[in-house]
Formats: sequence, C-alpha cells, structure tokens
Amino acid sequence: MQRERLLKVLVVGDLGVGKTSIIQRYVQQVFSQHYRATIGVDFSLKVLHWDPGTAVRLQLWDIAGQERYGHMTRVYYREAVGALVVFDTTRLSTFQAVLRWKGDLDAKVALSDGRPLPAVLLANKVDQQHQGLRSKTPKLETFSRDHGFIGCYETSAKDNTNIDAAVSFLVENILAQEAEPASTHLDAGVLAHPLSDLHAKESGPSHCSGCSTLRARGRDQD
Ligand code: GTP
Ligand code: MG
Repeated sequence: MQRERLLKVLVVGDLGVGKTSIIQRYVQQVFSQHYRATIGVDFSLKVLHWDPGTAVRLQLWDIAGQERYGHMTRVYYREAVGALVVFDTTRLSTFQAVLRWKGDLDAKVALSDGRPLPAVLLANKVDQQHQGLRSKTPKLETFSRDHGFIGCYETSAKDNTNIDAAVSFLVENILAQEAEPASTHLDAGVLAHPLSDLHAKESGPSHCSGCSTLRARGRDQD
C-alpha cells in the first residue's frame, strides 16, 4: 500500500526575486515575464510519486517578499518542514536579505524535535548572469554551508534551470530526516540555540550547484 506524506515547504526571499515564478515553473511548467507582486501568501500543490511506496503531497507556500516587514510570517511558517530561500543574482540587496530571511525562519519555526528547518538557498535568474553579481557575492557554496543551509543551487525559472533538482534535493532531505529518530541527532536541542550556525558548519557537506556532488534526480511527477 502507498504511504502518503503531506509536506509543507516555505518559499521566502525579497520582493521580486522570483519565488512565484519558481513555483509556477515547478508546478505548471510555465514562465511569465510579467511581475505581479504576491499579496500575503499563495499556495500550490504538487503530487510526487516519490518511490513505489511513497506519494508526496508537496504544499508550497509562496510568501510575499513584502511580508519580511510584517508580523504574519510566524503564522505562515507554522508546521512547515522545509524552506527554499531565494535571492536574485542581479540584485545585491536581495542577497544581503538572505540571512534576514533565514534568521526569521529559525526564530519562528522549527521541526517538532527542535531541529531547524532544512533550508536550500536558491540563486535565481542565472539566465541573466552577464549582468549578475557573481564576482561580487562570496562563493555561494561556502556562504550557504557557513550559514546552515543544507545546499544551494543556481536557478532560472525562465530557463528551467535546477528548479526540479533543488526541490527534489530538499524533499529527499526532509524524508531522510523523518526516517531518522531524533535521538540520533546529538545536537537536537542545541541546534535551536543561537550558536546553531556553529553546529551546522560541522554537520557535513552541503550540496551546491557548483559542486560535483550535485544530484539532479529525475522524478516521476504529476
Ligand atoms: P513577490 O511576490 O513580490 O515577493 O515577488 P516574487 O519573488 O514572487 O517574484 P516573481 O516570481 O513575481 O518574479 C519577479 C519578476 O522576475 C517577474 O517579472 C519575473 O518574470 C522575473 N523572473 C523570475 N524568475 C526569473 C528568472 O529566473 N529569470 C528572469 N530573467 N526573470 C525572472
Ligand atoms: Mg510572488
């Protein structure tokens, strides 16, 4: 019999970085140049036939960039089990906001055993790389590892670059963590502590789109 899992995943990042576009690309395989700011929050659902025994109902919560200045994120974040934190590679200010979004997540939501939500960093709009900030941003892989992300990907919602790979990587990580009893994580309690970055640094490799360990596993998706 098939096991069905409902996973709530948050998509956060500053105004206009491409959160809605990434979700639309992932769920409906479409892209629009037209920018319409999300108000509050939107939801999308995609059912993944993850493996013969598991169907994943992936609920993507598209949080408006303008919510960083509001007080609603605590409500939206409730019961989430993972996050995508997005910035726009053509706008430095959106990269600088990444840590504020990560901090907001870590301050307001955690897994039921107290561990921080697994979060993947997305450097979006790489199709516009020629006008991007690549030389100005610190090496993404080091940055993401140092700040407790489980991985990072250079993405384009426009060209459909790495979107499936990034989401699959996050889902894989969420399911793997659930399979592990919390007691095997010696730092379970400590990880919620402000020094969690320190522990995250030591907790093994993260996976980045630039590095050879990147796994872009194809999935049979609806
Ligand atoms: P808020 O809802 O305001 O928080 O913004 P958002 O993060 O949802 O951004 P949205 O997806 O609406 O995209 C903003 C603009 O960037 C739109 O004009 C998109 O067409 C464009 N855009 C999004 N992703 C990409 C991309 O990968 N490449 C390019 N070239 N443009 C993109
Ligand atoms: Mg939006």
